[in-house]
Amino acid sequence: MNELQRLIAEARNAAEHSYSPYSGFRVGAVVVAATGSEYTGCNVENAAYNHTICAEANAITTAAAAGVREIDTIAVACPDGFGCTPCGNCRQMMREFNVRRVIVTDEAGEPIEYTLEDLLPHSFGPGDLPSSRE
Ligand code: THU
Repeated sequence: MNELQRLIAEARNAAEHSYSPYSGFRVGAVVVAATGSEYTGCNVENAAYNHTICAEANAITTAAAAGVREIDTIAVACPDGFGCTPCGNCRQMMREFNVRRVIVTDEAGEPIEYTLEDLLPHSFGPGDLPSSRE
């Protein structure tokens, strides 16, 4: 098993804790911080649907709460059979912490590697705020 396959396997494990009674669509994610530390997350749905938290957002905020500010890699897995790529909101959250690469899977579960620039070109980030230029 190579490194990308290992990360996808970890993301699949994280999806085991998915709370997704409304969609039935389990998602898991693992964040690898620039330091090498790893943090996992799963999607957590809510009866008030718009309060759903994506797996990526869960893993990113868990890492941030542990003090992480630079993320090297995030891997995402959807064990219910379809390849999936992060939603727009999660891509923007990745942008905040300089994610270098994003690993998703194809429909067969094999890893595909993207840069964040592939997924979110011409993005808006912290350096675009006037306050960052003072
Ligand atoms: N979901 C994620 O966790 N990550 C994504 O990138 C796409 C969607 C979740 C949200 C919801 O619980 C379910 O998948 C269906 O949209």
